[in-house]
Amino acid sequence: MPLSNYALLGALLSASLANAFTPLADKRFAYNQIPYKVDTDVGLPRGTQLGYNQCNSTTEGPNSLCQTAVINSLDDFCLWAPSEPGHTVGDIEGEMIAWCSKPGHGTRVMPKGTITGVQFTRTPDYIQVVGFMDQTKINMVAGDDGGEMDPHGADRRGNPIGGLVYTNAWTGGYSQAVEWHNFNGANMFCFKACDPKGPKAARYCEHIYDIMGCGFNAPSNAKEGVFESCASDSQDPPGQYVNAAGQTTTWRQGDGNPPYTPRIPSSSLCSTFASTDIFDKATNIPIPTPSAGSQSSSSSISSGSSSLPTSVSTSHTSSVSSGSSSASHSSSSGTSSRPASSSTTASTTPSRTQDSSNSPSETSNNSGAGKSATSLSMIAFTALTLLYVVA
Ligand SMILES: *[C@@H]1O[C@H](CO)[C@@H](O)[C@H](O)[C@H]1NC(C)=O
Ligand SMILES: *[C@@H]1O[C@H](CO)[C@@H](O)[C@H](O)[C@H]1NC(C)=O
Repeated sequence: MPLSNYALLGALLSASLANAFTPLADKRFAYNQIPYKVDTDVGLPRGTQLGYNQCNSTTEGPNSLCQTAVINSLDDFCLWAPSEPGHTVGDIEGEMIAWCSKPGHGTRVMPKGTITGVQFTRTPDYIQVVGFMDQTKINMVAGDDGGEMDPHGADRRGNPIGGLVYTNAWTGGYSQAVEWHNFNGANMFCFKACDPKGPKAARYCEHIYDIMGCGFNAPSNAKEGVFESCASDSQDPPGQYVNAAGQTTTWRQGDGNPPYTPRIPSSSLCSTFASTDIFDKATNIPIPTPSAGSQSSSSSISSGSSSLPTSVSTSHTSSVSSGSSSASHSSSSGTSSRPASSSTTASTTPSRTQDSSNSPSETSNNSGAGKSATSLSMIAFTALTLLYVVA
């Protein structure tokens, strides 16, 4: 073809490279260098980022559209929830905003009584909060079985689009949790942030089991009415199990029902509180450091933990100590107020795991995700056709 066409082709190629799309999970920001909006893409099928990522005392409160969440400790964490009532998680996962358990992050602040039980755990691989809530207090629809937020999604812009997650639990300063997942629904929540220094961060924070809920993706010992901060063994990566032949293998969503029940890792060194201690006043809450010693007491760990490289637990344990000195907080005033009905533990309510086929989770709105994917491939097809015509 004529030389001028090569020039035109080159111009088109460099234009498309200049506008190269970066998936959310590839974006890294130091905490003090977070841009106003992390997602600046325009003209894509799901539109523009709803809120912003620079969040401060000006943005804090009932009108906040902050999309930077933190998980720091038992009393200081956020969940992704709607900015306005009336929309299910499946409808609005791309526009979720941060609702935090306490002020100080420039976000919406959860009303009193939102969290009705929560377990914070720190493991060698991740931190997580799992618990129970009155989800209507954070604009969720009563009875909504909910779904998953994570930094991926069919178009790789994340749910919410542009959502960032940070924690000060690993180094004392804020560091970005690149891989994370948050399931909210049926008055339960789980939010896991995986330490990027760990060898399997993406696996522990897997995003492909979006209809399976907390019992599958984040099995825990969380109990209604109990508020505790613990060290823990790591879960098995979601989907991974040991089959009858003794081989470690992976079940995928869509392959019928899971052929196994996810192992609940044992938690240890728990400090238990009354909810009023942690949400109504400042209380120094320890973040226990998981160690080999703290994990050895339970036999339930050994089967699964053999699949973890032993090196995992060594690297991250030194940094936490600041908060963990206060033994005085292990007074268990919260424990005695625990409802007898601990039949509602997170471990026994993976009901969404059992009947995921009829739970109206985010994938019930497959039309939306499917449409996005189709539109994206249409764009790609159009671009290729254009290049072909030029050539
Ligand atoms: C607070 O955040 C808003 C929204 O991101 C931003 O426009 C404003 O400049 C920030 N204010 C300060 C003092 O940093
Ligand atoms: C699903 O997504 C579509 C847009 O893709 C939207 O119109 C609809 O309200 C959503 N919810 C349901 C339950 O279909």
